[in-house]
Amino acid sequence: MKPAIVTTRRQRSTPPAPVSSFPYHPGSLLSVLDLTVDGVSQLLIRATELENEDPIGRDHILAKRRIALLFYESSTRTRTSFELACKALGADTTLVSSLSSSIEKGESVKDTGLTLRALGAEAIILRHNSSGAAWLLEESTRLPVINAGDGMHEHPTQALLDLRTILTHLRPGLVGVAPDTLAGVTVMITGDILHSRVARSNMQLLPRVGARVLLCGPKELLPEQAARSGPGIEIERDFDAALAQSQAVMMLRIQAERLAGLQLDLDEYKANYQLTGQRLAAHAPAAVVLHPGPIIRGMEITAGVADGVQSAILEQVTNGLAIRMAVMERALTAENGGRA
Ligand code: CP
Repeated sequence: MKPAIVTTRRQRSTPPAPVSSFPYHPGSLLSVLDLTVDGVSQLLIRATELENEDPIGRDHILAKRRIALLFYESSTRTRTSFELACKALGADTTLVSSLSSSIEKGESVKDTGLTLRALGAEAIILRHNSSGAAWLLEESTRLPVINAGDGMHEHPTQALLDLRTILTHLRPGLVGVAPDTLAGVTVMITGDILHSRVARSNMQLLPRVGARVLLCGPKELLPEQAARSGPGIEIERDFDAALAQSQAVMMLRIQAERLAGLQLDLDEYKANYQLTGQRLAAHAPAAVVLHPGPIIRGMEITAGVADGVQSAILEQVTNGLAIRMAVMERALTAENGGRA
């Protein structure tokens, strides 16, 4: 589905394609809404198969296929795990980042994408600070494009790896999903929801597999209309009350780079919304704690909780590798009906 925020005018002379034609390429992953629940399930199952496969056998799957990583924003987890996932399947990768490329000289997303395609790139993994950039790149190049985070809009592979982590803890033994897999589970998301592509992708994905999503945070970072984003999404402003209802607790970083003049009293924020060991023990002693990273210790989460027994933060990172292997295999084989 195409995002509401468009970053540039169409430059094609032909009539614009209807919105429903996105994504053009069956291997693209621009939004979690590109995937049916069955499609999500297939990716989760394939991630597990690939993770368990012998590394020597696995590296023929995308042998010598060329994949470009195009990163306009900094990243540790997403960039590294995509790169390692591509390499684990035998692909050749190249990284283009905004700080060391002709992007610095003003080259557009479209021209950068066309240049990468002319050099033989068969798929592009894009992180960009503008919402909708992945759609523009796909429209320009017609290559499979994987959205590795576009502005405040979506981060689909993060939501998939979050789902895999939640399943491991709350539905042990289950690898795939169905519309009722997480029935009876409340996943709380707390923090800077307004600016969070991670929250948005999870809000689109988790209710489709049966979870209730409970949003928590101050009005500045969580507008009332967020509760109307879709079915299965509610708001609870009281952090302790939200914790008491939740089996999974997802904490988010305050994104200082996106606050754009918004004034926030950080001491007040910490007093009301910081996840501490005391709060966790009192209200959610059995919940699994998630965070997409990077974490800011002592801000949204204490070091004790981040390193504690309920934390699955590093499991999320590890799950990113398996999920991204499955996503990249799909990217380069979907046109031929899937699997190399
Ligand atoms: N979760 C996530 O997207 O982290 P990075 O910004 O480090 O990639």
